[in-house]
Amino acid sequence: MRIIHTILIGLCCLLFLVLLGIALRIQLFRTTRIYEPVSMQTEQFTVPAEPFDLDQAIQNGKAFSIPYPDDERFTILWGTDFHLRKGPFSRRKRVYALLQRAFEKTDPDLTVITGDLLYSYEALDLLKEFASFMEEQGRYWAYSFGNHDGQFTSDRKTLGTALKAYPHALFSMGEDWVRGYSDYPLVLNWNGKPTQALVLLDSHDSRRYAQGKIGPDYLYPSQIAWYRWVEDGLSVPLYAFVHIPLPEFKSLWESGTALGVKQDKQVNVSLENSGMFKAMQEKGFTQAVFCGHDHLNDFAGNWDGIDLVYGRSASYGSYGSPSFPKGVKTITLQPNSPAYTMQTYTVDQWGL
Ligand SMILES: [Fe+2]
Repeated sequence: MRIIHTILIGLCCLLFLVLLGIALRIQLFRTTRIYEPVSMQTEQFTVPAEPFDLDQAIQNGKAFSIPYPDDERFTILWGTDFHLRKGPFSRRKRVYALLQRAFEKTDPDLTVITGDLLYSYEALDLLKEFASFMEEQGRYWAYSFGNHDGQFTSDRKTLGTALKAYPHALFSMGEDWVRGYSDYPLVLNWNGKPTQALVLLDSHDSRRYAQGKIGPDYLYPSQIAWYRWVEDGLSVPLYAFVHIPLPEFKSLWESGTALGVKQDKQVNVSLENSGMFKAMQEKGFTQAVFCGHDHLNDFAGNWDGIDLVYGRSASYGSYGSPSFPKGVKTITLQPNSPAYTMQTYTVDQWGL
């Protein structure tokens, strides 16, 4: 009788703890701000009267300039959707092992992460852990936010502010008049002159569309205006890095001309097209758009003059498939040429 009594008390305590845990999680969800407060129709902003000035932008911490190495080959290690989180199934040590191996093999000049680096209630801790890892490695890195990064207890502004303490994090929260907290250019220079630019764009989170349908958010008119402003000011080949694929990625796949695989059920694009791709086409400087977000899609192709390219997700702690190894890619540029070469490295090759 006494044993049954003890077991019952134990079960009650366990149930209480489980319910308390659920209540705390719900409370955290309720304090999470997911949606932008405006739409592409209602957003208000003013583009500066003066043209984009790179030196000024660098001085204000709104842009970065990186010189080409002596061998005149600029290698970007491109990672996406690491989904760092804590817990027994987070497998984040593997992400660090993958990166360490990638650094040894490819010796990149810069690492670029197209969002969803974080997927955790402890996102701020994990961002600091990741930034410290990059400091230890002595590797410069850039990062644009995806839908999950600022989704929980630390918003994107808090995360972005924390990165100021890490000299190897080439990160900017961007111009005040532009929506998002990671819209900024990294300009590659050769012999002291700008030769190409990587343009990072904040993807926001989800939004509630007409009839209450929820889907991935779009890029906002202020971001499009900013992109044009930077493009006009630089007049060099541009390579855009964004987490959520532009709607044209879906068109590309449906056209049947893309090379690669689509193992996600969908190409998860915004439900409305805010016109970024069209804006990119106008002046012709944009060479490619690199995206993440869908962990099992990895296809690429040219759509109306611009390459649309999926990254290779390294989301060890998130969904995947045994037939789709995690990995990273490299993008290599040379001065005075808009062309680039790309290579995918998967864990199978490295036996991690
Ligand atoms: Fe995502």
